[in-house]
Amino acid sequence: QAALPEGYKLRPLRLGDYETGFLDCLRVLTTVGDISKEKFQQRYEWLSNQDGTYFILVIEDTNSSSPKVVGTGALIVERKFIHDLGKVGHIEDIAVAKDQQGKKLGLRIIQALDFIAAKTGCYKTILDCSEHNEGFYVKCGFKRAGLEMAHYH
Ligand code: ACO
Repeated sequence: QAALPEGYKLRPLRLGDYETGFLDCLRVLTTVGDISKEKFQQRYEWLSNQDGTYFILVIEDTNSSSPKVVGTGALIVERKFIHDLGKVGHIEDIAVAKDQQGKKLGLRIIQALDFIAAKTGCYKTILDCSEHNEGFYVKCGFKRAGLEMAHYH
């Protein structure tokens, strides 16, 4: 397992991360929108109530006086009928702040999410990514499998 740099902490998302740059961190990935504290809290509480289904991790840099979220990633545990009521882990929304990339933070997030997937009984962990990121996920131990299709609404 890769070690985190001094003063960096990997932990579950908290409500207070509205103030520590969680949404800004996600902005390196895609459009986030203008989310109010109230809407953030509603979504956070809904996710927290889906017992054992949503695991959102962040890496926090505590070196400065105002701690900052510099990386994040999510695991969603899907319950199936097939494979004897099997579970599949879905990795989503991996983002590392631009000025923090290349420090193995992404790798640590993937390792932690995959560990949770194994612990919760998932027989596999899957994700979708662009060709551009394939090398990163290969370094994390994943391999190309299948083809993603989408229907946007
Ligand atoms: N292509 C090939 N190799 C890569 C890439 C890449 N795009 N990115 C990182 N690597 C390599 C690193 O060089 C490193 O290799 P090493 O062990 O030989 O030194 C290894 O992968 C681990 O890299 P990290 O330092 O852990 O990567 P980082 O912390 O920079 O995070 C990430 C990678 C998450 C892709 C980051 O660049 C990022 O946030 N990008 C923008 C958002 C994004 O594209 N997120 C992924 C979307 S897919 C999804 O969410 C399921």
